[in-house]
Amino acid sequence: MPILQVSDLKKIYTTRFGGQQVQALTSVNFAVEPGEYVAIMGESGSGKTTLLNILAALDKPTSGQVLLDGKNIVAIKERDIAAFRRDHLGFVFQDFNLLDTFSIQDNILLPLVLAGKTYKEMEKRLLPLARRLGIDALLKKYPYEVSGGQKQRGAIVRALAMKPQLMLFDVGKETPGIPNASSTMGCVQSASLKVTTAQMAPQINPMATLPEA
Ligand SMILES: Nc1ncnc2c1ncn2[C@@H]1O[C@H](COP(=O)(O)OP(=O)(O)O)[C@@H](O)[C@H]1O
Ligand SMILES: [Mg+2]
Repeated sequence: MPILQVSDLKKIYTTRFGGQQVQALTSVNFAVEPGEYVAIMGESGSGKTTLLNILAALDKPTSGQVLLDGKNIVAIKERDIAAFRRDHLGFVFQDFNLLDTFSIQDNILLPLVLAGKTYKEMEKRLLPLARRLGIDALLKKYPYEVSGGQKQRGAIVRALAMKPQLMLFDVGKETPGIPNASSTMGCVQSASLKVTTAQMAPQINPMATLPEA
C-alpha cells in the first residue's frame, strides 16, 4: 500500500480582494511507496511549493485528496493538524528555517523538547544522526557560522530526529553554495536513511543524475 497517495489535487489561489485567480495545481495524481525517493521537478511557478505545503498540511487544497498512510490529511481538524504534522511529517524548507539565536544542536533538539522527550531519548537520537550526516563537529555552532550545505544537513537531522513517516524537501534553484536537488538526495541516501522522501526541485535534468536508491 502506498504511504502517500495524492488524488485529483487542485489548488486555486484567490487574491485577497477576490479579483484574480491563479490555478497553481490543476489535477495532481501520484503515489509513493514506503522507502521510495521521489523528486518532483518543474520550472519556477509551476506549483512545487504549493504542492509541498499541502502535503505538509500547512495549506489546504481547493479540492482533492492526500492520503498519508491511509489517512486523509486534508480532512484533519485544524486543532489536530500541528500534532499530526509533528508526529508524521518531517520537512526541510528551502531556507532551512533554523533559528539564528540557537546553536545547531539546540535547533535540532527544540522539536524533541516540545514533544516532551526525555533528555536521555534526545541524546540517543541526536549524535548518531549528526554523525551520519557529518555535522557532529558543528553542533555547538550557530546557523550563521556554517555553510548552506551544513545548515541543510542540520535541518535534515532536526526533521529525522522526530522519526517521521514522510520527509519533504523544498529544494532551491541551482545557486552556488546552496545544496541542489541531487546533492540533497545524495546526502540523504548516503546516510542510508530508511524513510520515504518527496522533494520538490526546480528543473534538474535528467532523472538519471539522481543516485540509485
Ligand atoms: N499565496 C499565494 N497567493 C497567490 N498566488 C500564489 C501564492 N503562492 C503561490 N502562488 C502562485 O501559484 C503558482 C505556483 O507557485 P509555487 O507553488 O510557489 O511554484 P514553485 O514552487 O514551483 O516555484 C505561481 O503562479 C505563484 O505565483
Ligand atoms: Mg518553490
